[in-house]
Formats: sequence, C-alpha cells, structure tokens
Amino acid sequence: MNKRVENRLEVRDLHVSFPARRTFPWQAASRVRAVNGVSFAIEPGSIVGLVGESGSGKSTIARTIMGLVQADAGQILLGGMDLCRIGRGARLALRRSRRLQMIWQDPAASLDPRFTVRQSLLAGWGRDDIVARAARARQLIRSVGLPERVWDQRPGQMSGGQNQRVAIARALLGDPAVLVADEPTSALDVSVQAGVGTHLAALAREAGSSCLLVSHDLSFVSNLADQVIVLYLGTVMEQGPALRLMTRPRHPYTAALLGASPQGYLAGEASPRYRLRGELPSPLHPPSGCQFRTRCPFAEARCAEVRPVLRQVDGGGMVACHVSERLAAPLRRMAQGLAPGTSRAHPSSLSPHQTVRTDFE
Ligand SMILES: Nc1ncnc2c1ncn2[C@@H]1O[C@H](COP(=O)(O)OP(=O)(O)OP(=O)(O)O)[C@@H](O)[C@H]1O
Ligand SMILES: [Mg+2]
Repeated sequence: MNKRVENRLEVRDLHVSFPARRTFPWQAASRVRAVNGVSFAIEPGSIVGLVGESGSGKSTIARTIMGLVQADAGQILLGGMDLCRIGRGARLALRRSRRLQMIWQDPAASLDPRFTVRQSLLAGWGRDDIVARAARARQLIRSVGLPERVWDQRPGQMSGGQNQRVAIARALLGDPAVLVADEPTSALDVSVQAGVGTHLAALAREAGSSCLLVSHDLSFVSNLADQVIVLYLGTVMEQGPALRLMTRPRHPYTAALLGASPQGYLAGEASPRYRLRGELPSPLHPPSGCQFRTRCPFAEARCAEVRPVLRQVDGGGMVACHVSERLAAPLRRMAQGLAPGTSRAHPSSLSPHQTVRTDFE
C-alpha cells in the first residue's frame, strides 16, 4: 500500500458519550453526548482543523482516534482498519508502530524532565536503527527551528515553545500516518504560537501524515489547515475548505467565532470584536432543534422544532442551518467583528477594544 492509501484517516458518523456525574444518588443515570455523528476525512499530507468552544467535543474526537476513549458508534478507518473495532493485540501493535502520534497542549507533561532532547527523541528505538534515527532526529530538530545546542538540554532548561518544538520533532520521527495535535500552542506565549503552528503544519505535510489540528481559535486553525470543522455541543455546524470558511462563513456560529477572534478577519487592524451572546447550554440538556439557536441572532420558530442536517454549499463544504441561504451579508459583517444588523462601519472609526453591541442583545 502507498502512503496515499495507508495514511488516509476517515471518521464516519462518530458518536461518543460519557456517564454524567450525578449531583444526588437518587437521580437517574444519564449520559453526556460529547460527540454526535461527526464525519470527516483527512487526506495524507493535509491538515484538518477542529474548532469549537470549550466542551464542544474536540478533545473527545482526538482521544477517540488515539484509542484513549471508546466510541459508542461509528467508524475510524485507517488503511483498511477500523480503529473502533480492533482488538487489544492490534491496538498494541499500532501503538508500537508509532503510526498514530499525539501532540498535547502542555509539552512539559509529555516530555520526561530527566531526559535530554537526544534521550527523549531516541528512547524506544531499537539498536538497529538508532544511527539512522539519530541523524533524522537532528535534522528534525533543525526543521522545527531549534539550535543544535538543545540536543543535550533537558525540558527545564528550555522555554515552553522550545519544548513543544521538541515534542513535534519526536512525534514526527517515526513518520506517523496520523498526527493529532490537541491545542498544541494554547499553553505557549502568544509571540511563539504562530511559529510553532507553522512548523508543525509544514512538517506534517512533508511527512505525508494525516493531521488533525484541534484549537478553540478559528483564525489560527484556518491559517494552517486545508479543511476546517466547526463543532458546537458535539455536533458539526459547518465544515469545508478553510479559505471558504474564513472568507464566506455560512453558519452564524462560524461567523461569530471569526468575529470574536483577536486575530480575525481584519488581522492587524484595531477592529471591534463581535461578542457571542448568552451562555453555552448544558450538554446534558441540549436545546431542541438546532443546538445553536439559543445564541443565534437569526433563529426562527422552525429552528426550535427541526434539527438542521448538513447540506452541501456553494464554494465547497457543508452547513447545518435552516436560514443560512439569506445570511451572506450579515454573516460577513459578523465575521469582521461587527454587529450583523448594523450598517458597515469602518473599523478605524472605533476605539481598539470597543465591542459593537448587536441589535439582538
Ligand atoms: N472523561 C469524561 N467523563 C465525563 N465527561 C467527559 C469526559 N471527557 C469529556 N467529557 C464531557 O464531554 C464534553 C466534551 O468535552 P471535550 O473535552 O471533548 O471538549 P473540548 O472541545 O475539548 O473542550 P476544551 O476546549 O475545554 O478542551 C464536555 O461536556 C465534557 O464535560
Ligand atoms: Mg479539549
């Protein structure tokens, strides 16, 4: 099998739930539906971004792919295998093969503080390939933008950004089929986030890995990924080509995330930011119909009655929204950080941190 087939990851109709914590022992046992029917494919050498607010199910999807959480239903296909249905032996062999690699948010938690960079990278490789691996490891250390001298340093002697670069190099050393990065830059200094993200994306592409990049920041992800999935309460609101989502969002939630992002649509300008109204509903009691409707400025009666299904849109991808057809202009305004119902104001006429109140608040 070639890389194009072997490294392709496809998630089909994934459902994952957890037992909900009970406040009182007499309460009926219920489950939090963390992931509700999510489907996507990652082509080898490409990056799929997974975005949504806290609790939307991003990490649950990442962890289910890695085999750390069990799915209720659905398939996770990798090179002819369904990772939801493999036995313990096959799972262990997969782990040993290093075909699935994960980069965690906190590099300090994934690197052993006692190990030098050299030891961290080369631990676990057999004697036979250690020479070749060492050469490749040194090359990767350079590729992630680290100087040679870190080779003999320990995590405590390096910055968070440098440690995360080491973790990226280590994950890529075995040319993984799948690379899952869960908020890989969120714990880092803002000044190094873009650099670390760019190195991660470039190396995953070069290795021909299928890369899932998880973040709560849609602008960050859209700049690095080919395709983007926008999740809300475990459900896909919109998915499609990153460029199309950024420039022509079709779901009010996508537009709200763009408008609220500090590096949003009007990057570099002192732009006002859109603020999403209301609270995230409890995942134990999600709203009827469209789950986003309780915070959506455009919700109509039918949004409470019928759950919108994902349907194809012009420009590529899919959206789950009853009213998206007539929203092109207001959604573009929202994505720019402006209130959807106001006339277009030039951003420079507003003070840097001023938030435009929407007509709907
Ligand atoms: N082990 C668990 N046991 C019970 N509930 C869980 C567990 N893991 C996740 N959940 C619940 O599943 C939902 C999705 O959580 P998840 O961690 O996947 O969200 P997330 O999008 O990664 O959020 P964040 O941005 O905060 O990391 C949440 O309601 C969460 O409380
Ligand atoms: Mg998470």
